[in-house]
Amino acid sequence: MIDVLIIGTGLAGLSAALEAKRDNLNVVLITKSFPFRSNSSLASGGINAALGYAESDAPYLHAIDTINAAAGLGDKEAIKILCEAAPPRVLELDANGAQFDRAENGEIAQRSFGGSGRKRACYVQDRVGSSLVQALLKICNSAGITILHGHFLLDLIVKNNRIAGVCALKLSNGEVLAIEAKSAILAGGGFAGIYCGRATNPVSTNGDSIAAAFRSGLRLVNMEFVQFHPTGLLGSGELVSEAARGEGGFLTYENGERFTNEMQTRDKLARTIEREIRNGHKVFIDVRHLGKEFLQSRLPNFCKAVAAKLGLDPSCELVPIAPAAHYTMGGIEVDSRARTAIAGLFACGECAYSGVHGANRLGGNSLLEAAVFGKIAGKNAARFAKTAKPLKTGAICDEKVAIERKRIERILEGESLYNINALRKSLGKKLTAKLGIFRDASGILDAIEYVEYLQTLIGGLACVDKGRNNNVELTMILEFLNALEVAEISALAALGRKESRGSHFREDYPLSSDRFVKNSYATRKAGGFFAIEFLRPNSFAWYLDKLRRAFSV
Ligand code: FUM
Repeated sequence: MIDVLIIGTGLAGLSAALEAKRDNLNVVLITKSFPFRSNSSLASGGINAALGYAESDAPYLHAIDTINAAAGLGDKEAIKILCEAAPPRVLELDANGAQFDRAENGEIAQRSFGGSGRKRACYVQDRVGSSLVQALLKICNSAGITILHGHFLLDLIVKNNRIAGVCALKLSNGEVLAIEAKSAILAGGGFAGIYCGRATNPVSTNGDSIAAAFRSGLRLVNMEFVQFHPTGLLGSGELVSEAARGEGGFLTYENGERFTNEMQTRDKLARTIEREIRNGHKVFIDVRHLGKEFLQSRLPNFCKAVAAKLGLDPSCELVPIAPAAHYTMGGIEVDSRARTAIAGLFACGECAYSGVHGANRLGGNSLLEAAVFGKIAGKNAARFAKTAKPLKTGAICDEKVAIERKRIERILEGESLYNINALRKSLGKKLTAKLGIFRDASGILDAIEYVEYLQTLIGGLACVDKGRNNNVELTMILEFLNALEVAEISALAALGRKESRGSHFREDYPLSSDRFVKNSYATRKAGGFFAIEFLRPNSFAWYLDKLRRAFSV
């Protein structure tokens, strides 16, 4: 029997796995893809920690910057945990083999990021995410942690409000499996990839874990907050790391003239750039003054991407950019121990709402959240697995498998009426236009109507290729179904939040309102309806206490 089952092999999942493995438990990770395809691997510029190496710093200063960036919705308890844990966690990652760049005195080098008052982001050139994933993956392999690649999460299996395992599709042969476990951790990432065509994330970052949690009755928090990274490459949306500005790059018009403070928080800077674009300007990042040698040593991936996608040399040419969907602040409700309201089920990383980012995330805090709360989730899931009474699952796993098998059969065998690729592009286009950096009621309603229209097409979503082995079309359809769920929730929450705050800017309500110093909570109701409520961060602690008593854990 698996003790701790983890869904997702980004930094949060790998951190959780290593922590759970300390207790010598049977730890298994599943991923629909490969660890190097995770969003963590794509994270480029830095991971924050108030090490105080580059200049004087302290965790409380990091906390103040994080609270300010979060625009009134940051959870101060969670932020304190994050910022205090950051220095020891980054040193631990360094000892784990992360290969952070060094200053001349041998200390970990640190660079500036927007909204941070100090040089606080630790980095490995502009590929820190892949370096961290690589380091932890190596340790996971030598620790004997099993990683099942190509396993798509179909649904959670829950009995009497306790986790029993997950139902997964084995992509290599199309088999539907129940994977039973004593405890489970959702670490499957966010949903910014559904802004297909204008996203730094791959389209497969579509909220699978979040949608599965919602279907199992868990609440989703603050789903309206979608962060647009100020600098995506024009056209492809590929990330131009904040490191390019942190190292001294400028934002300019076509004539090379600077027009803004490049080190603002992402919400403000993305809006400034988008306004310039709306006013007919082209916007560029200018790093020419940094010199070829410096660019090659600090930002080699940026140089390669610009050459490959646009045929430009950033050491002597301006690089055209536009904001692109990058990160989703909202997600599955968890407490500061990464517990969800289902006993034995934990969540961490971008799919979870820990409260550390509130309405807008500080650059460099996403890898940090994954590393810190991943570890917390691993520890608590291990503790649960060791102490919880055995669960008699009975027929529930077979029943779940039968339901999911039927669903997969229909998608495989049905008549294909629509092109899935075209549908996901059109969803991305609609969301970008109507649920993007600027929103208003009529646009959001338009987005909701469009998502509802796409939902009417579900019956005609079927595979042209009927083969079961590695059927990419089947995966795309399953991802799209989850994308529609999270898109609808995000839009409904955006409609309800009649104010502007952090990354959520309503042109019809351009000011923040005291009435909305609240989180939005999305709940699934009978008949498939959703309810969105705005509540002060609240009663979750007593609910968990009640659960703990019920399950004596
Ligand atoms: O711009 C970047 O390198 C992204 C960092 C982040 O999202 O934290």
